[in-house]
Amino acid sequence: MNKHLDEARRILASNDRGGYTVPTDRLYPFQWNWDSAFVAMGFALYDVDRAYRELERLAEGQWADGMIPHIIFHQPSDTYFPGPSVWRTRHSIPTSGITQPPVFAIALRKVHEAAGSITEARTLPLYEAALKWHRWWYCARDPEGTGLVALLHPWETGSDNSPAWDIALARVPTTTETAVARKDTGHVNAEMRPRDEDYKRFIHLVDTYAACGWDPAQQWEKAPFKVAEVQTTAILLKAGEDLEHLARRLGRKDEAAEIAALNARSRKALLAQWRPALSRFVSRDLISGEDVEAPTQAGFIPLLSLDLEEEIAGALVGEMKAWSKGLKVVFPTTKPGIESFEPKRYWRGPAWAIINWLLIDGLKRNRQPDLAEELRKSTIDAIETEGFAEYFDPMTGEGCGGLGFSWTAAAYLWLMRQ
Ligand code: GLC
Repeated sequence: MNKHLDEARRILASNDRGGYTVPTDRLYPFQWNWDSAFVAMGFALYDVDRAYRELERLAEGQWADGMIPHIIFHQPSDTYFPGPSVWRTRHSIPTSGITQPPVFAIALRKVHEAAGSITEARTLPLYEAALKWHRWWYCARDPEGTGLVALLHPWETGSDNSPAWDIALARVPTTTETAVARKDTGHVNAEMRPRDEDYKRFIHLVDTYAACGWDPAQQWEKAPFKVAEVQTTAILLKAGEDLEHLARRLGRKDEAAEIAALNARSRKALLAQWRPALSRFVSRDLISGEDVEAPTQAGFIPLLSLDLEEEIAGALVGEMKAWSKGLKVVFPTTKPGIESFEPKRYWRGPAWAIINWLLIDGLKRNRQPDLAEELRKSTIDAIETEGFAEYFDPMTGEGCGGLGFSWTAAAYLWLMRQ
């Protein structure tokens, strides 16, 4: 076996903490929601039992209302802030109180298919967990039935400090009840992480929602940050398609029809977020009512779940190529050359293997095999040159952030199989 494939499997094994995989040692010492879904797809390629286990352990954190939290604190650790005492949630296993992009059902379909039909018994409870979660999304995060789901904390987007949140986050006060005791900057260079001011706002939001007792309706009313987001909605729609497929396979006809109706609603809403003048899709800030025009990768993620007309797909691809010009590693999470582009700072420019994975699937779906292949090669080269870093500086190719990263390993396994 190619030595990098071997190394990818070794990373997943060494980040195993008992049926679940931490994103990386120390910096992220618990189970993270969308990280685990990507990891499960990696495992599905060679160890289906372990792939199911990853999703089962994630589902252990599911709340009674259907929400699957962004972190499940299976075991204590003092290398991460904010821990359970800051979140003040009530689940039997301690969890955070916010969620993350719903990749779960996308992973479940892949795991189910890798397993073959004999494993229906193992798929069923996970299918039910996914269905509950999707219902939660539409009920708690789109109470007006617009088809776009909203996020109440930048961490829910998975793109913590993206320039997409700059305007919306600036309205959030920096005052906190909880003392902010960051641990991340003790593990990696502060230049590569969100700024202190961002952290205070992140914690202000946690304090605000904890004071609502984590009740979704109260949070919706009190939220000082509320963005109806295209990346998350696009992921929810793709996951919804996979969930609908599973529902049919499992003979759940009524549920399949229910999911199909939700999918149709999101499909229509996402399409309405296309902005020809920008050649991108845009999110909406629900507090100001304005489009979020900051140029980030999120604007291209709808490729994943829409079958676009030639003209729109062509415009998206043209824009993606313009952003990629002259870069060592694609695809940048912020448009290069603009003021907010910072090639080493987390979600303000760096290329991430899992974002590329979503974009590659979306480009293929929309008949753009050449650009999909370019992204795939670029991701593989970056990893083979620099290792399984958390993300890559698109200008220099340097591997940044944490090392031995689980989802980078899973992405490598997945991209090498095609
Ligand atoms: C950071 C990322 C988030 C990821 C987590 C664990 O918070 O922004 O997307 O899930 O780290 O890797």
